Amino acid sequence: MRLHQSFAAGSGAMGPPTRVGPLRFGSALAVATLLLAACTGGGSGASGAAGTDSGGDAEGYPDREITFIVPFSAGGPTDTVTRLIAEPMGEVLGQQIVVQNVEGAGGTVAAGQVAGAEGDGYTVLMHHIGMSTAPSLYDDLAFDPLEDFKTIGLVTEVPMTIIGASDFEPNTLEELVAYVTENADTVTYAHAGIGAASQLCALLFQDAIGVELTGAPYEGTGPAMDDLLGGQVDFMCDQTTNTTSQIQAGEVKAYAVTTPERVEILPDVPTTEEAGLPEVQVGVWHGLYVPADTPDEIVQALTDALKEALTDANVIETLAGLGAAPVSEDQATPEAHTQRLQEQIELWRPIIEASAG
Ligand code: MLT
Repeated sequence: MRLHQSFAAGSGAMGPPTRVGPLRFGSALAVATLLLAACTGGGSGASGAAGTDSGGDAEGYPDREITFIVPFSAGGPTDTVTRLIAEPMGEVLGQQIVVQNVEGAGGTVAAGQVAGAEGDGYTVLMHHIGMSTAPSLYDDLAFDPLEDFKTIGLVTEVPMTIIGASDFEPNTLEELVAYVTENADTVTYAHAGIGAASQLCALLFQDAIGVELTGAPYEGTGPAMDDLLGGQVDFMCDQTTNTTSQIQAGEVKAYAVTTPERVEILPDVPTTEEAGLPEVQVGVWHGLYVPADTPDEIVQALTDALKEALTDANVIETLAGLGAAPVSEDQATPEAHTQRLQEQIELWRPIIEASAG
C-alpha cells in the first residue's frame, strides 16, 4: 500500500489509535542527507505564489481586525508561535489580530479554508512543514500549496524532540528502540494527524528501526501532551516549542533532539545522531500565507509587519526559551518562503512515494 493512501486512511481528529506503517525509505543515508538539507534550506529567488491581484482592496489596509488561522489545537506549538507574533504584528499594522484554531486532517482543513477565503488580507494562515508534505500525503487535497496562496514570509525554525511519559520504562533512545521493538503491539505514540510534523517524525523513527507502532491521532500536540503527561500514551515526537518546559521540569523523558546539533536550551539531550539514529532528522519551519488573489500591496504590508515582529525582544526571548528562533530578515520574505515551500515539496515527494511497499 502506498504511504499516502495509508495516511489518507488515518485521521487528523482525535480518535481511537490507528496503526500506520513505517516509511520504507531506500537509503537511510540518502534520506538523512536530504533531511539535513531540509533543515538548512533558505535563500531567495522564486516569487510568491501565482495569482492575480483581484482580491481585496489594498487601500487603507488594514482597517479592521485580522484573523490568523492556526491549523492545529490551541495550546500546541503552532498556536504558540502564532500567538507570539500576532501581537507585535498587530501593533505594527495598527489593528488587532485574533487567532482562530481550525483543526483537522493534519492541518489540511485550515489550509483549504484559507485557500477559499477572500484575498483581502483579513484571513491569514500560519502553517508549517506540513504544507509541503500534504500534496504527497493526500490524494484529494482541496488546495494546491503553490497555486492557491501567496506567501508572506518564513517565521521560525523549530527543532523536534523525541520524548516519553515519565513512567514509560525506557530512559534513553537506545532503550526506547529496544523497548518498542520488544513491545510493538502495546506501545502507543501520539501525533497530530496525517501531515503533522509529529506524525512525520514518528514515521521516520519507525522506518529507521523497522518497527510498526500504533499511533494515537489528536487535533494538535497540545492535547497530545496532556495525555502524555497523564500517561495515556507512551511517547511522542514534537517541537521544542511544546516540549521544552516539560523536559526542563522533568515531567517527561527526553530521548533526543532531531537536529544535527544539540539545542542550547536542552544541553543534556543528545541528538538522534549521537544517540544512534542519524536517519531521524527533521526541522520544522513555519510560514504565513494568504489566498492567491490577495493584492501585492497587502502582502507587502504583512511581510513588513512580520519582519518587524521578528525583531521584537519578547518574540526573540520567548522563542529562545523554547529552543527555537525567528528566521533571519532575508527569510521573512515571500521569495524565500516560496523557495522553501518548493524545495520541501520536491524533497518530500520522492521520500513519501518511495515508501510504496
Ligand atoms: C505537529 O505535530 O505538526 C504540531 O505539533 C501540531 C500542533 O501545532 O499542535
